[in-house]
Amino acid sequence: MRHQGAVAAGAEERAADRDAAADRESGDAAGDDIARTPPALNAPVNGFGYVAGELCAEGVPLSVIAERYGTPCYVYSRAMLVHAFEAFDGAFADVPHLVCYAMKANASLAILDLFAQLGSGFDIVSGGELSRVLAAGGDPAKVVFSGVGKSDLEMEAALASAILCFNVESPSELDHLAAVAARMGKVAPISFRVNPDVDPRTHAYIATGHKESKFGVASADALALYRRAANMRSITVRGIDMHIGSQISELGPHREAALRLLSLADALAADGIALEHIDLGGGLGIRYRDETPVAIGDYAQMVRELMRGRRERLLFEPGRRLVGESGILLTRVRVVKPGTARNFAIVDAAMNDLLRPSLYSAWHDVDPVRPRGGGKTRFDIVGPICESGDFLAHDRLLALAEGDLLAVRSAGAYGMSMSSNYNARPRACEVLVDGDVAHLVRRRETVAELTAHEIRLPQRRDA
Ligand code: LLP
Repeated sequence: MRHQGAVAAGAEERAADRDAAADRESGDAAGDDIARTPPALNAPVNGFGYVAGELCAEGVPLSVIAERYGTPCYVYSRAMLVHAFEAFDGAFADVPHLVCYAMKANASLAILDLFAQLGSGFDIVSGGELSRVLAAGGDPAKVVFSGVGKSDLEMEAALASAILCFNVESPSELDHLAAVAARMGKVAPISFRVNPDVDPRTHAYIATGHKESKFGVASADALALYRRAANMRSITVRGIDMHIGSQISELGPHREAALRLLSLADALAADGIALEHIDLGGGLGIRYRDETPVAIGDYAQMVRELMRGRRERLLFEPGRRLVGESGILLTRVRVVKPGTARNFAIVDAAMNDLLRPSLYSAWHDVDPVRPRGGGKTRFDIVGPICESGDFLAHDRLLALAEGDLLAVRSAGAYGMSMSSNYNARPRACEVLVDGDVAHLVRRRETVAELTAHEIRLPQRRDA
């Protein structure tokens, strides 16, 4: 930790800057922390806010982070992450429950580690995610495994780790799992993910609980499947599960789907199949633009009313809600390019860093880190990638110049986790801010790493 404490002034500062620049070039600043001095006056203790004309992450100005680690860079607020988890978890404090963070939203080890320390479980969808949970110190006994296409190897790994539950999504998966467990001399705990056939009223790509979707088993088939599972020696029935979609802004679809799930649980009980838990999935939306997200308190009250008089433990799989608003994507304007029809601000982040605008036409607010006076112009904020679909935002009224820093808001969920190397672009670094200290939690990928797994063809003799 080279710069623990105050960032020094004068010669020392310039030396530190040179080090930082060298680190940036080599991508070799892993584990390094920075602190700032003096602590910002009236610094927002929580999240992102302007202090003395500059957008800060908690007590650290974003320009300090950009200088130190370069851009594009994901920046997270620890206070906001903790707040989001505690708000969700705390809303169910008086009922038996387990929050299983849907880590596909953001699987960075630092975030998993933080949530694990807060008592979180995890919803995983691959063997890779399981190893991330283990690497971050998560408890496999709090892991549920969702997904429509689990491989035998992934099932083996999850059985070896003694996870809490497999959310089984097809009759074929049940047979595979039973066979794998039998081979290992183990008993696999399961829920069926039931498709309650409700319309979650969200983007078609992220709606999962309607009958046209590939997810879950049909409600009508559930009873017969549970009976079959209950008779399998290497399977034990634990619960029932659903997940109807993502970025849902209304309570209605959650309630309708939960009611269907609970009536199925009752039918199972009448059939002698008692469940230990009810997994209501994730899907609670956040604010990207002008949405009014469902308040956690209202959601919890609705769930508690439905659960009145029941004994099953509740499981939840929130992803976006726990991380979405806690992160921004920090990017620098490279080129300002006035056009005949549109003006472009070409920034150093692109669709490979944040795919949501390109893939779902998703809106993310874009704010200048140091707002400048003067006239505003309508800009498309685009990346350097060779596709017209490479944009972060359209039609934003901003005053900006080349070199300015921009913050793309609510980028904590499905940002870094969906990033790629398209156009041979190294993936961004990630910084987690805790008060006045910025922790580098993932260093920027290097160009050398991009080809590290590749093998060229042997030279042909006749060439
Ligand atoms: N459980 C299961 C089984 C899921 O498939 C998902 C998300 C979740 C929980 C968490 O849902 P959340 O609470 O985050 O809404 N890439 C898209 C979102 C895809 C969601 C996939 N499944 C986006 O950027 O909007």
